[in-house]
Amino acid sequence: MQPDTPKRVLESLTSTVLTFDADLRLTSINPAGEMLFETSAKKITGYKLSELLPRSGRIAEVLQETLSSRHPFTARSIRLLLPGRRRITVDCTVTPFDENDEALLVELTQVDRLLRLTRDEDLLERQAANRIVIRGLAHEIKNPLGGLRGAAQLLERELDDPGLREYTRIIIHEADRLRTLVDRMTGPIQPLKKEVVNIHEVLEHVARLMLVEVPVGLTIERLYDPSLPEIKGDRDQLVQAVLNVVRNAVEATQGSGRVQLRTRAERNFTIRQKRHRLVLCVDIEDDGPGIPADLREHIFYPMVTGKPSGTGLGLSIAQDIITKHGGLIGCESRPKQTVFTLHLPLENNHGQA
Ligand SMILES: Nc1ncnc2c1ncn2[C@@H]1O[C@H](COP(=O)(O)OP(=O)(O)OP(=O)(O)O)[C@@H](O)[C@H]1O
Ligand SMILES: [Mg+2]
Repeated sequence: MQPDTPKRVLESLTSTVLTFDADLRLTSINPAGEMLFETSAKKITGYKLSELLPRSGRIAEVLQETLSSRHPFTARSIRLLLPGRRRITVDCTVTPFDENDEALLVELTQVDRLLRLTRDEDLLERQAANRIVIRGLAHEIKNPLGGLRGAAQLLERELDDPGLREYTRIIIHEADRLRTLVDRMTGPIQPLKKEVVNIHEVLEHVARLMLVEVPVGLTIERLYDPSLPEIKGDRDQLVQAVLNVVRNAVEATQGSGRVQLRTRAERNFTIRQKRHRLVLCVDIEDDGPGIPADLREHIFYPMVTGKPSGTGLGLSIAQDIITKHGGLIGCESRPKQTVFTLHLPLENNHGQA
């Protein structure tokens, strides 16, 4: 083993490793920890645990217990409030460690993200399978539809009685409606036209569209991070994806609530087993009643709707578009606070961190 191998191992770990002295002052932190705390080791070394995590009493208890018992200890599912008000759940293993000033070795593994990621992967796999069935079905419907419409048109030309022409017009109109539905079901088939896109321009465009549709009663708040770089993507398809999610938010508040659009960057985020150093996040939050419990697990499936006249395609299409951009849509919902988050990789080469 090379002399610097242990150091390199620590640097490559994806879980956070920290060491503390007997006064619970931080003596070292690995790069995964720097990413979690969104700061550098230099800035926080020497700080007390109570200063780093002021509202996380359980973790202080675990460290104190290990200091006095001198036995390793693992505590599961501890809730942490990180600087920047981010809440996460971690498993925490503390090992007594008598080396120079270092008294405790602490490993934190973020578990909520792992759970969510496996669920995301399952969801995407099932969606992909569904989409194949739907595309097949749509194809089968579309073929005879063309013939049906053409025959009705020919028939219309032969008919002198306007009363009878009314019937052929209904056939043509309904065939067109079905065709639009089938086109929506198969999703945006066009390949991505990649260009440089400013996500704030996309959001502003969608906000304007919504305010034209619902001119009274709707409040759209914006909290943008202006330092975010531009992304490579298909602007029109991104507008479509954001619009589908924002329209749901507006519909959930019945057009008279508050919808908030936020942008931010998140570090070290895994999408379909690929770890990205930096992803752009768009949060779309509304204060409506929340997603009905019986639909919660299924809303991204096509044809799943809780609305009397919904087609249940909006989210499935949005997910499809964001997936084609290498991203992911997530969702957290409770009454008065539903947040859909669009994650889009930021690095140009989509490379691994
Ligand atoms: N912000 C939200 N708050 C509450 N429920 C939501 C929200 N967004 C989506 N849903 C639920 O998810 C379902 C599926 O949404 P989706 O956009 O896929 O279809 P839809 O809105 O019903 O129909 P379409 O978008 O095709 O017109 C909705 O019917 C609704 O029940
Ligand atoms: Mg919708």
